[in-house]
Amino acid sequence: MRFIIGSDHGGVERKREIIEFLEKKGHSVENRGVDTEDSVDYPDIVRDVCGQYKRGDYDYGILLCGTGIGVSICANKISGIRCALLFDEYTARMAKAHNNANFIAFGGRNTYSTSITAMITTFIDTEFEGGRHQRRVGKIAVLEEDLFGKGQ
Ligand code: RB5
Repeated sequence: MRFIIGSDHGGVERKREIIEFLEKKGHSVENRGVDTEDSVDYPDIVRDVCGQYKRGDYDYGILLCGTGIGVSICANKISGIRCALLFDEYTARMAKAHNNANFIAFGGRNTYSTSITAMITTFIDTEFEGGRHQRRVGKIAVLEEDLFGKGQ
């Protein structure tokens, strides 16, 4: 699979671990964002990563900041991006099964009870269930287009 990943300074170390894990599994990973702990603004990273994702031919995007919250908020403002902030195996499974997320987010400074690699594996291995969930995901796209999306 093809992944694109980006982090601000708060997620650099975990980003490195994720890239190593995915590449060992035979996936291709486009590394964006920063690789040092010099302070940057996470909305700029999300803009770049999501823009590349929409122009490119990627399966999934992964975003990191200190908590994962800032990057999730930003990513979910971009049409076509459904970014899930994962924190255990259950949310990893549901993010795909019910929400058909195309982006997942993690916090570089969060303490997780499940390893990030286990969450990513679960996310990759889970199938979108479709059916009533497809209807709901379709309504997310409608939200992007209707009056809320036009600042009214
Ligand atoms: C940066 O210090 C931090 O605020 C950022 O990485 C992120 O956690 C914001 O949501």
